[in-house]
Amino acid sequence: MFHLASQIRTSDPDFKANYAYHKKLEADYIEVLERIQQGGPPKHVERHKERGKMTARERIDALIDPDTPFLEFSTLAAYDMYNNSAPSAGVITGVGIVHGQEVLVIANDATVKGGTYFPMTIKKHIRAQKIAMENNLPCVYLVDSGGIFLPEQAGTFADAEHFGHIFYNQARLSRMNIPQISCVMGSCTAGGAYVPAMSDETVIVKEQGTIFIGGPPLVKAATGVECTAEELGGGDVHTRISGVSDHLAENDEHAIKILRNIIQNLGNRPKFELQRDSAAEPSYDPDEIYGVLPRDIRQPYAVYELIARMVDESRFHEFKSRYGTSLVTGFARIMGYPVGIVANNGVLFSESSKKGAHFVTLCAKRKIPLLFLQNITGFMVGLQYEHGAIASDGAKMVHAVANADVPRFTLVVGGSYGAGNYAMCGRGYKPRMLWMWPNARISVMGGEQAANVLAQVKQDQLRAAGKPELNEDEVQELRQPILDKYEKEGHPFYASARIWDDGILTIRDTRAALALGIETSLNQPVPDMEMGIFRM
Ligand code: COA
Repeated sequence: MFHLASQIRTSDPDFKANYAYHKKLEADYIEVLERIQQGGPPKHVERHKERGKMTARERIDALIDPDTPFLEFSTLAAYDMYNNSAPSAGVITGVGIVHGQEVLVIANDATVKGGTYFPMTIKKHIRAQKIAMENNLPCVYLVDSGGIFLPEQAGTFADAEHFGHIFYNQARLSRMNIPQISCVMGSCTAGGAYVPAMSDETVIVKEQGTIFIGGPPLVKAATGVECTAEELGGGDVHTRISGVSDHLAENDEHAIKILRNIIQNLGNRPKFELQRDSAAEPSYDPDEIYGVLPRDIRQPYAVYELIARMVDESRFHEFKSRYGTSLVTGFARIMGYPVGIVANNGVLFSESSKKGAHFVTLCAKRKIPLLFLQNITGFMVGLQYEHGAIASDGAKMVHAVANADVPRFTLVVGGSYGAGNYAMCGRGYKPRMLWMWPNARISVMGGEQAANVLAQVKQDQLRAAGKPELNEDEVQELRQPILDKYEKEGHPFYASARIWDDGILTIRDTRAALALGIETSLNQPVPDMEMGIFRM
């Protein structure tokens, strides 16, 4: 593979201004992140600890192998929603390694409204189960939840992907031989009781975990019988009398030891073999990416400068370097793993789309994971391009991306707008994982374009009705709220809060997260390529 040559001068004032700008963006993001990672209100965290319980994050730390990373998803879920009362949507999800096996962990945070499920909690839980399904990962549920957050019942109960879908998924996952393991470390009420009840193997903590379909107040109201929570559905009841649980733990620490033993005995789970080299750092410092990225997202730059700072030894075997140059495609290694990179280097034309489709099929046939670096305003518009069949050339790329069953990863490194989002493996194309950088923006089009389209539509309506057109001030009055709305809704925090991605990555953590994502994906065999009909 050839070594990429960088044209960047780190002494350039523009580089320095970019560097300072992107470091500040990252610092702002980390400040938000650290606040969120503290969980619920301090008084609830204290109360939780006084009860002898570990926090959700402490439980995860104790569960995974020492000195191994935890690839956390959607930490910013529910950010700036529900009056900011649900940090991380009250549930922590991610991939960790236990006895050398990657597992998907879903841990309720009981310090956040008793670990109850807001609409975003359900979305996050179900997204994690989908990650388990796509990557063939055993699931570990650390249960400590009061079930549905009752004031939000309309957004949590009745629809297809609401609370009930969690238990449906458990049954389907179990049938796919994806182990379902629960550890009941607190409340597990009503529908929530099905998390352990639908699991293959279950642990419960003595005088702390409870499982029941109806709690003591409901039992009293329905039958007149008074009982304590422990008598109704505590650890002793469920391991000795009902058999709903299989192992009784003395406390959280003991429960986690039992969980680790369970995972050690899941049987042989072979991985797909991808020829991995030894990992090597890029020869250009990844820290320079902060200076490479322009401050204005609309400003073009050579994406080679990013690739040179992301791949091992900055080596890249480019495919079709002279053709369709607004899309860069080629092979490289990230921490030793082979990847096919598809990176925007401008707007998508017919040539770049056909090149993209060709390259994606190469990777799908050769079973090489794909990495999409998204920075795309969309496909080229205009008479000449429509006559040149940009619609069906773009569709070729969309088709290839949709049907490429190799593990695909998407990183939004700039803008993600319009149909470019589809061709570049946006969320709708089911990449195994999708992340954004703090500078990213995502919306159907840029705010300026949306405001201009709506102003144009208004003028056309007025003209058709024989009324006077808006003057410049009136146009600006119409445009401003649209610009403000797009600025707010295109922000990565807004996207991450709604789980349109799997989280925001800092630039410095990106290579490690990509490597973990690829390693995780190898739990699922890669099928042979199957494509449908390409419109030629
Ligand atoms: N819906 C909405 N809010 C709930 C809730 C629910 N199901 N369960 C608890 N909360 C809220 C409480 O109002 C409290 O809010 P606050 O912090 O604003 O005061 C917070 O969660 C913590 O509840 P609290 O009871 O103080 O905590 P706890 O740790 O002692 O007990 C539970 C937690 C979950 C065991 C207990 O609150 C409970 O049994 N809740 C009802 C569970 C239930 O019946 N769910 C049925 C849903 S299907």
